[in-house]
Amino acid sequence: MRPQVYISDLSKHVGKSVTLKGWLYHRRSSGKVKFLILRDGTGYLQCVVFKGNVSTEVFENAEKLTQESSFEITGAVKLEPRAVGGYELDAVDVKIISISSEYPITPKEHGIEFLIDHRHLWVRSKKQVAVLKIRHRIVKAIRDFFDMRGFVLFDPPIITPNACEGTSTLFEFDYFDLGKAYLTQSGQLYAEAGALALGKVYTFGPTFRAEKSKTRRHLTEFWMVEPEMAFYDLDDNMDLAEEFLEYIVQTVLTEMRPELEILERDVTKLENIKRPFPRISYDEAVQILLESGIDFEWGNDLGGGDETIISDKFDRPVMVHRYPSQVKAFYMKRDPKNDKLALAVDVLAPEGYGEIIGGSQREDDLDKLLHRIKEHNLPQESFEWYLDLRRYGSVPHSGFGLGLERTVSWICGIEHLREAIPFPRMIYRNTP
Ligand code: 4AD
Ligand code: MG
Repeated sequence: MRPQVYISDLSKHVGKSVTLKGWLYHRRSSGKVKFLILRDGTGYLQCVVFKGNVSTEVFENAEKLTQESSFEITGAVKLEPRAVGGYELDAVDVKIISISSEYPITPKEHGIEFLIDHRHLWVRSKKQVAVLKIRHRIVKAIRDFFDMRGFVLFDPPIITPNACEGTSTLFEFDYFDLGKAYLTQSGQLYAEAGALALGKVYTFGPTFRAEKSKTRRHLTEFWMVEPEMAFYDLDDNMDLAEEFLEYIVQTVLTEMRPELEILERDVTKLENIKRPFPRISYDEAVQILLESGIDFEWGNDLGGGDETIISDKFDRPVMVHRYPSQVKAFYMKRDPKNDKLALAVDVLAPEGYGEIIGGSQREDDLDKLLHRIKEHNLPQESFEWYLDLRRYGSVPHSGFGLGLERTVSWICGIEHLREAIPFPRMIYRNTP
């Protein structure tokens, strides 16, 4: 058997005859010629079937192909700058694999609900393919970034006995005879155990929030990457977050240009994403809101609209640090200079994409952490293992979490997180 040739390999086959397999993206006819656009996942290729060059049967096969029918095509590859992808195939043979009858997603406009109902097919569309390829490249960039810097991948459990990010968004279920268990909201608490064992670790996997909000920025199942570093303070944490985001964006810019073009992304906005990023305190963020005429009370959390007003002042991600501890998680260390503040940082993406990173320096003092657990009405028993990390060789440590789908949406310039993951899960949707 000859090795399978893909559209992405065609530069090696110019002037030669190849057989390609895939699906019909689009077909156009003009008399004695059929132009078939083949897609095989790696790209798109215009295949020309001349009535005069092929048998009647082959020409009829080309005629029978409908949108998304699968087929095999053989012919000579030539350079054709005017065609999609820059190559063209002069077909000599067309074999039908399977005819697709009445493919539901036609080139006409469909409503978004219809498209998500058909997500299993919608992922074949050109823009969706581009988004999913960029997602893949971002995942690789994330892993490369940490792997090159000596971090160890540390996989936390998904079934957990305790909350991490507040009890209001926990997915709860019965776990045999052991009572309630929860789907993880974040791998962080386990990452802290990892950092104290391995120095620098990262977790990367699905996380769950029973978000009752129906916004374009919230999924109930999303992917998060969470680095955690022993001996890092808040400033070190922000330095890492900044370097990390620059690396991801610049990697996509250099390696995913064709996909960004398909998405019609304004890349000049991404080209700005270079260190240093602006760093402002929560107090300064409140000042920006008040100056913009927003009626904002110190002590509240920033809402999506507030985040947009703040990030619109900058052309790159802005790091907002030192939030009021009352709006942040129990594990965050307080600012030694002001006990009302947590050593927290949120990174707000530009262009109104909102918070993409949340992080902090962690409380490393046993008594303070115990006090915080009680204050938050969390069950101490299920946090005993976490408290042990402060009993046995506690050290200053920090980390953050980056939401993958928010990052993909921002970089791709897409409106809603539902297009940034193959099968989105939201409050009103758990299918297909
Ligand atoms: O700010 P969050 O809740 O922080 C944590 O979970 C920390 N434990 C992270 C850490 O310090 N290790 O979530 C982190 C990021 C957010 O900035 C956002 O990008 C994303 O996760 N995120 C969501 N993405 C999609 N849908 C949701 N419902 C999300 N909730 C958070
Ligand atoms: Mg957050």
